[in-house]
Amino acid sequence: MMKTNITVSYIDEILKGFLPKNRDKVMQAMEYSLFSGGKRFRPMLLLNTAKAVGNRISDGAKALAAALEFVHTYSLIHDDLPCMDNDDLRRGKRSCHMQFGEASAVLAGDALLNLAFETVLKGPISAKNYQAACVFLFKMSGIEGLVHGQSLDLFTETKNVDEATELAVAKTGALIRAALVCGALVGGAKEEEIALFDDIACKLGVCYQIVDDILDSQKCEKSFLDVYSESDLIDHVRLLNNEIYATCDKLPYNLQYIKEFCDQNLARKK
Ligand code: IPE
Ligand code: MG
Repeated sequence: MMKTNITVSYIDEILKGFLPKNRDKVMQAMEYSLFSGGKRFRPMLLLNTAKAVGNRISDGAKALAAALEFVHTYSLIHDDLPCMDNDDLRRGKRSCHMQFGEASAVLAGDALLNLAFETVLKGPISAKNYQAACVFLFKMSGIEGLVHGQSLDLFTETKNVDEATELAVAKTGALIRAALVCGALVGGAKEEEIALFDDIACKLGVCYQIVDDILDSQKCEKSFLDVYSESDLIDHVRLLNNEIYATCDKLPYNLQYIKEFCDQNLARKK
C-alpha cells in the first residue's frame, strides 16, 4: 500500500474536495479564512489517530477531518468579531470581518458550520462507529464543548488554575477531543481505549492553551498567566506532557505522533 504523509497540503486537498464551487462574496470570505495559514493540526491528529488505530485512512475519517477544520475555522472567524474578542488580526493577516465586513464574517461562519454538517452527511453514514463520531464532533462543537468554553471565557471569572484549566478543556480541548476520539472511533478502538484517547486530548488542550497564552502574553482576555508565572506554566506543561506519554504507552498503538505533537507544542512560535 502507498505510504500516506499526512501533511498540510494533504489536508488542504481533502478540504478542497468538500468545498462548493460558488463565487459568492461569503464563499470568498470562507476561503480566505480556510486558506490563510492554519496549522491543520486537528485534522492531522484525527487522521493520524484513525491510521494508528485502524491501519488506514477511511473516507469517513477524511470527512470528519474536513468537518473538524471547517468548525475550527468558523469558530476563529466568530471569535475575532467585535462582539467577541474584537481582533483585527488573525495569523498575522486581517481577520475575516476586517477584510470582508462583519455581516459577511458572521455568514461565513454560519456557512462553514453548515458545510461541516453537509460534509459528514456525505460520508459513509452506515459504517461502524461513524455516526457516533459525528455525534461526538458536533457535541464538542456545541454547548457541551467549544460554545460552552466561549461562554465561560466571556461571562465568568477565572480566579485560579483549576478554573483556567476547566476553561481551556472546554474552549481549546473540545476540538482536540473531537480529533482524537473521532479518529479512534472510526479506527475501531475499544471503549476503554477511547476513554484514554479522550484523557490525552483534554490534557493536550490545556498544554496547547498554556503555550498559546505564553506566546500571546500581551492579550487582554483571560490567560493562564493571570494565575501562574511563565516558568510555573512551562513546568506544568512538562508534567502534563509526561502524563500524556504515559497514557500513550498504555495504548496498544504507535502514538509517536502524539508525543511529537507535545514536543512541538512546547517549541512552537505560533
Ligand atoms: C487557535 O488555534 C485557537 C486556539 C485554540 C488557541 P490554532 O493555533 O490551531 O490556529 P491555526 O488554525 O493554526 O491558525
Ligand atoms: Mg475568545
